[in-house]
Amino acid sequence: MSGTPPELPIVVLDALMPRAQRLVVNRRGSMVWEVESHRGQYAVKVGYPIEATADWPAQPWTALAPAREGAVLYRLGFDDFAYGEWELGTWNFQPWHEGPDLYELWRPCREPDSRTEPHTSAALGCVEALAELHGRGWAHGDVQPAHFIIGPDRTHLIDLALARGGRVPEGYDFPFRGCLVHYEAPEIARSVLATGEAQPTQEADIYALGASLLISATGWRAVEYPDDAPRPEQRQAVASGKRRPVKVHGELGELIDAMLSPAPEDRPTIYEVGKALS
Ligand SMILES: Nc1ncnc2c1ncn2[C@@H]1O[C@H](COP(=O)(O)OP(=O)(O)O)[C@@H](O)[C@H]1O
Ligand SMILES: [Mg+2]
Repeated sequence: MSGTPPELPIVVLDALMPRAQRLVVNRRGSMVWEVESHRGQYAVKVGYPIEATADWPAQPWTALAPAREGAVLYRLGFDDFAYGEWELGTWNFQPWHEGPDLYELWRPCREPDSRTEPHTSAALGCVEALAELHGRGWAHGDVQPAHFIIGPDRTHLIDLALARGGRVPEGYDFPFRGCLVHYEAPEIARSVLATGEAQPTQEADIYALGASLLISATGWRAVEYPDDAPRPEQRQAVASGKRRPVKVHGELGELIDAMLSPAPEDRPTIYEVGKALS
């Protein structure tokens, strides 16, 4: 994927006939495009394998992620999406959701000497989006601030590529190897360190939601480790369960603290979080 500028696969061009397109991100084996077509605005995700680097082992599964997400969207009964294969991997498209993500939305709260408090209504929107998934028996596996898009009518929880809860075709499935370390629950970090894999759970999603709210509101990670520490060292810090104190005022702060409980069984459920916030 180096050298030539990235392009949309022909199959996707055929399906959507874009009037306009914009590359949103291209990183770690995944491209996302915003596409305008006669059918509407779509997010197009295109996966390709990544070769090994000094910091990363080869990750062939990134090629499968869009199709895996497509299979999850199908299981969950979404409409207006499609997925398939291209030369280097798989792709999907799904409706584009307009709006800032949680991290962008709460930027004013993170400014030095800011008096802006994080809005409970935004937190509640994120909780409702995750509750919808949990209510159907699924775990997301990759909850992070960038995955909550705060739209005018509702909040969308995107990137279901790692979600667990129903059958996914074997050819598109791959093991869960943890998520972004800032949002990884200690039990997930320990499992990834010990075996290279873990099981996404609703309890770990709650931890990730707590860490997402904390980092978006304050800029602080739930666990302290140096920015430049190698990933296993960051994971080790998370696995140890040694947390920073949560410095968010009021009910939201107390809730975040409970969501970040080291033992999964001590964390509130998403319904308990929603009840406490509303
Ligand atoms: N349906 C969507 N609506 C709006 N933006 C999206 C959508 N899907 C993806 N994006 C944008 O693309 C970024 C990456 O998408 P994501 O689904 O997280 O893929 P990956 O993590 O594999 O790169 C998101 O953080 C968001 O900015
Ligand atoms: Mg993502």
